Amino acid sequence: MFALTQYPHLKPDRNGWLLIEDICFKDIVEKFGTPVYVYSCKRIRENCITLRKIFDRKFKNRIFYSYKTNMNSKICKIIHENGIGAEVISDIELKQALNHVNPDMIVFDGPHKPLNIIREAVKYGVNLINADSLDELKLINRVAEEQGVIQKVGLTLNPDPDSKIGVFLDGEGLSVLEKYVEKLNHIKLAALHCHLKTQNFDLNTYTETITRMSEISNLIKAKTGCEIDVFDLGGGLPEAAVIGKKINNLADKIKEKLEKLALNCEIYFEPGRFIIGDAGVLLTKIVNIKKICNRLWIIVDAGSNIISPLSKANHRFTVANRLLDDYSKEYSIGGPLPASFDILNRNYCLPDKIAIGDYIGIINAGAYCEVFSIRFGDKTPLNILIDKSELTMI
Ligand SMILES: Cc1ncc(COP(=O)(O)O)c(C=O)c1O
Repeated sequence: MFALTQYPHLKPDRNGWLLIEDICFKDIVEKFGTPVYVYSCKRIRENCITLRKIFDRKFKNRIFYSYKTNMNSKICKIIHENGIGAEVISDIELKQALNHVNPDMIVFDGPHKPLNIIREAVKYGVNLINADSLDELKLINRVAEEQGVIQKVGLTLNPDPDSKIGVFLDGEGLSVLEKYVEKLNHIKLAALHCHLKTQNFDLNTYTETITRMSEISNLIKAKTGCEIDVFDLGGGLPEAAVIGKKINNLADKIKEKLEKLALNCEIYFEPGRFIIGDAGVLLTKIVNIKKICNRLWIIVDAGSNIISPLSKANHRFTVANRLLDDYSKEYSIGGPLPASFDILNRNYCLPDKIAIGDYIGIINAGAYCEVFSIRFGDKTPLNILIDKSELTMI
């Protein structure tokens, strides 16, 4: 039997067919065809509320959903209705966020911020712009000066010297920063920002980042007088179903660290995968089964163009019409593209009996899947939202 305990919005019906909330997957594929993305509104809400409740109990924080994870407008709206802001990296994301939330709920990140978009962000007064280089501070200052305002900015810290991201604040960097801060009167440097990596299972790295930010903010204070009062820890949390109760440990560890270092700063988070990763299911049909040497292959109608390895998720595959069977036989799963790379997984345990016409449900396909879907040889799938037993195309 396929274990769904970590996924309260999913369960089998009497026949072993997948119910998403209370809708049978069969009703969805009959109405909309396959492949199709299906999102559970209930699960999106739960994930937002879990995160807010757990962090709010422990320390001052704000949460900004990382739009790049899945920027479907309806999904973003649900997330915002649950008190979460937006982390954006482009013109299109910024415009959409401005349609949904107050500018104070928006953080603007990214290694490339064209001047016209900085102008928009400053004009609307977004909460924070995280500069990816020291020179970007000059650009933001120029725009804020043109508009006669003072913009709150942060510095994105380089997560490791091999990465192209952020600012490497060594002695030389600090001296440049000192000079800039002296001259740039239209920015207020108030935040440090760092996004370590996605699917970050080592939760200690968050507290290590706080220690590092605390040291750097002391150096900045000594050099420039700027008071850093926001530590923006970026995203990187695993899916809610995967991290489970350990999210409480993370909150405890952060609280402890803040107390130990006597820090009174506000912690910002930019989660993507945690909020939407396990709230989306990709339903795809088995169109062929064949054996090559000793390997049994299932061919489905969604390939790596639809569910890309770029999502970096450990995808979980079910046979949506055989949830109650024993998952004891290994299959490799390929897509419909005429390319050897089009493989979704190898040697994955599925039921003994599988037939052409069965359906595979990939139950953690909410994050970085739809956004990385490309129309390669076919159309991209529809997106369906389940909310209170209603199906809406979104
Ligand atoms: C700056 C920044 N913040 C947040 C995120 C969201 O990360 P995740 O979906 O792993 O939480 C990303 C993802 O790449 C990012 O680059």
